[in-house]
Amino acid sequence: MKRIALFASGSGSNAEKIAQYFANGTDVEITLVLTNNPKAGVIERSRRGFGCGLHVPVLTFDRAAFHESDRIIKILKNQQIDLIVLAGFMWLIPAGLVRAFPNQMVNIHPALLPRFGGKGMYGHHVHEAVVAAGETESGITIHYVNEHYDEGQVIFQARCPVSATDTPDDVARKVQALEHEHYPKIVETILRELS
Ligand code: GAR
Repeated sequence: MKRIALFASGSGSNAEKIAQYFANGTDVEITLVLTNNPKAGVIERSRRGFGCGLHVPVLTFDRAAFHESDRIIKILKNQQIDLIVLAGFMWLIPAGLVRAFPNQMVNIHPALLPRFGGKGMYGHHVHEAVVAAGETESGITIHYVNEHYDEGQVIFQARCPVSATDTPDDVARKVQALEHEHYPKIVETILRELS
């Protein structure tokens, strides 16, 4: 049995896809959802069983608990988490947490890193920058997490075309489709490699 903790700050559509993907299996458990945002959509999704009857406890934390104490690390260690999955989590991960879970923390970024990454490049800002730069393609990057924004080792990328008439919303839709298609499967592959 492998145990996953999901971190999300927003809507939580990726967290939901991952929960649904593993809901019927017996070898992966989504143990805990963690969020820094008491208004995050992921809380409501979890309350509704992620649309698949899977009820996962949600832990909400503030900046002090995350950056100035080891409370989160202790909780994750106590729960024997094998893999931390960031799914739209917007805070930088403190070095102590990175060190506590070496190569056991992954993130998804809505662009083709190393381009369109770094501080301030998240969510819709990324798609706006891609369109403003006249890019002809965008995509997703799944990568290990280190203590810098979007700089950990790349595990997987997938691409989508961007046409001259695409708006940031159009790009967001294409990228989200890629995220939902690939993130759960890549998480499964990473978990298999951990054993
Ligand atoms: C996703 O597009 C994810 O790639 C992005 O936030 C969105 C969350 O959507 N993450 C980042 O920008 C991290 N830098 P969701 O809440 O619907 O899963």
